[in-house]
Amino acid sequence: STSSILICGGAGYIGSHMAQWLAERGHTVTVLDNLSTGHRGAVRWGRLIEADLMDPAGLKRAFSGQRFDAVMHFCARSLVGESVAEPYPYYSNNVTGTLNLLEAMRDHNVSQIVFSSTAAVFGNPISEAIDEEHPRSPINPYGASKLMAERFLADAAHAYGLRSVTLRYFNAAGALPEHGIGEAHACETHLIPNVLRAALGQGPALKVFGNDYDTADGTCVRDYVHVQDLAQAHALALGFMAREAGAHTFNLGNAQGFSVQEVIATAASVTGVQIPYDVAPRRAGDPARLVASSEKARRVLGWTPQWTALEPIIESAWRWHRDPPSWSPHAHAHAHALGHIA
Ligand code: UFG
Repeated sequence: STSSILICGGAGYIGSHMAQWLAERGHTVTVLDNLSTGHRGAVRWGRLIEADLMDPAGLKRAFSGQRFDAVMHFCARSLVGESVAEPYPYYSNNVTGTLNLLEAMRDHNVSQIVFSSTAAVFGNPISEAIDEEHPRSPINPYGASKLMAERFLADAAHAYGLRSVTLRYFNAAGALPEHGIGEAHACETHLIPNVLRAALGQGPALKVFGNDYDTADGTCVRDYVHVQDLAQAHALALGFMAREAGAHTFNLGNAQGFSVQEVIATAASVTGVQIPYDVAPRRAGDPARLVASSEKARRVLGWTPQWTALEPIIESAWRWHRDPPSWSPHAHAHAHALGHIA
């Protein structure tokens, strides 16, 4: 059966891939976004409501206009380093904003939500494969803000019967260039886009933040998961919530770690470009190794990630970065770089 879903943050990187997944399967999609980091051009499926979670009146209008079966909540500030330097916007957007959204849902009798959380709630992990029960001990305001919102959902399940699924992503990566969507941050801090932009001769020179970690090659190890596989997990979460009351949590990753150096080597083989980089000091707030156990998501939700190898994930991102649409903040740099080559 199809349903009507409100995608908060649907103009952003992961939210736009969610809209594609649901719309392709016949669901009615509505995007709510304040376009602070999202893009109008990324809203290719469903209607866009321009509203801010910090504005309860705008939220009330959004919920009054239409009936939603469930909400998916991708709106957040999400950069670890920035959260350390500027904690207040992280707590206002991610904590107060989430509370405003939950209150609006309650006022309008919408009782199901899928919430985007993060591996950052675990801080420096104490075990190899991180499962859902691993102690939560965030080491930065971003992780702390997400953990607080997780707590809201547990409390709301108990008090109000709110049904929720919290999905803790490890490192979201990849794109769907054939559908015109991908990662398009004005200020890019993530590894894979930075590596690919370096391959294109764009952006700042590539830096490897630390090569003296306690890992095989000394660089940080992360678990990269394709955004389309994240979208699949959210869709499964909708079905799960319809059957199960309560607040539920799942970790989403590929259960495989790749070092920064392995990412650069794989990108070199995908692009055919020798990618220059400098080794720089460690970046504040970076744990050495973050690798998920997603056994629970596979067993309970029936999640079957399709993008399990690093190479196709990077290849999809490469096709996106090589030919960005005009709305991407990288489109101009791209035209410039091509002009330079010509
Ligand atoms: N890195 C570099 N050079 C760069 C960019 C990143 O060496 O130019 C390194 C980082 O130091 C880190 C790894 O590459 O070791 C991955 O960094 P990203 O910035 O791509 O991703 P993070 O692991 O820092 O962050 C991601 C999400 C966060 C989430 C976090 C969980 O973006 O939202 O995983 O810890 F909180």
